[in-house]
Amino acid sequence: MAAIWDSLLIPRVERMMEQIGDKSPHKTIDGVYDHMRLDWWTSGFWPGILWIMYDMTGDERYREHAWGWDGKLEQCFVTESNLHHDVGFQFLPTAVIKYKLTGDADALRRGLAAANFLAGRFNLAGRYLKAWNQEFTGWAIIDSTMNLSLLFWASEQTGDPRYRHIAVAHADTVLEKFMRADGSVCHIASFDAESGAFVEELGGQGYAPQSAWSRGQAWALHGLANSYRYTGEQRFLHAAQRIAHYFLAALPGDHVPPWDFRVPDTDREPKDTSAAACAASGLLEIAACLQEPEALLYADAADRILQSLTSRYTTWTQEDEQGLLRQGTGHRPAGQNVNVSLIYGDYFYVEALAKQNGWRNRIF
Ligand code: GLY
Repeated sequence: MAAIWDSLLIPRVERMMEQIGDKSPHKTIDGVYDHMRLDWWTSGFWPGILWIMYDMTGDERYREHAWGWDGKLEQCFVTESNLHHDVGFQFLPTAVIKYKLTGDADALRRGLAAANFLAGRFNLAGRYLKAWNQEFTGWAIIDSTMNLSLLFWASEQTGDPRYRHIAVAHADTVLEKFMRADGSVCHIASFDAESGAFVEELGGQGYAPQSAWSRGQAWALHGLANSYRYTGEQRFLHAAQRIAHYFLAALPGDHVPPWDFRVPDTDREPKDTSAAACAASGLLEIAACLQEPEALLYADAADRILQSLTSRYTTWTQEDEQGLLRQGTGHRPAGQNVNVSLIYGDYFYVEALAKQNGWRNRIF
């Protein structure tokens, strides 16, 4: 994959810098990235791509383009906004990685402010991080598994274990309430917010309550591997492996999942390349936690997914397309953002390729 990195990805991201400019890209419309509001959960992914490219190449142009993003996102804390459980997706690829790479004190302050905000969403009775800002105070979602790294990082940074305690409690709730015996996970777990009692699984962005939304599987797989990396707790690695086994067993022949593994007639349903890219990066994270030969099971599976994405789903030759990966699916049940490029799919594709090419830092 080194040839892809040098000859295809670097020129492509350089062109994206010109095409995207100051926009906050979320999804493409006719191949062109939109400009989403800054409090939207996806606003960290484009700067995250730029910080990875900077870290991998040392090219100052990436650093310059990435530099101002955490300052812009911080404004969402002091104006009316819809920030929620996904602040990790926004501040890990901006403030936190900027601090790690440059030591910038403002970036450190912003990353810790985001961690405080996320910690404040913890429901002690149910031991979960509350999802969204609507009236559903008892809802927790699998996406939050990926945001736990913000809390783990904050404890490492401050020496205060409270953030880690919350992250571990939420990760244990994922194991107990989201995970099923076959290794799949649901999207939403509903609780009684007062007593903390578990109520039911809900379908959310998946096909049905008992289905297997493919991006949700990827969030859980990658997020629990990260939780193991931060804590050394074997139960999180084993859970990530079980989800990986379900994911790999359910993949179709081209190694790129449909948007939900349990939707009827999957061959006729849209793919989700963002789920494939995030799962590939998570599989590489699992591989990094293991010794050979076991590690190779996961590294080889990640490679098969990335080879397929690269050969079948990329836009290398399309000058007029701004995304990297085609055929992402945002929210199929709502009919939103189906068969488009998604900036988070692009981000996890770059993250996974960077890991294959020796990237040692981590954002999540
Ligand atoms: N975090 C929202 C999604 O995965 O679509």
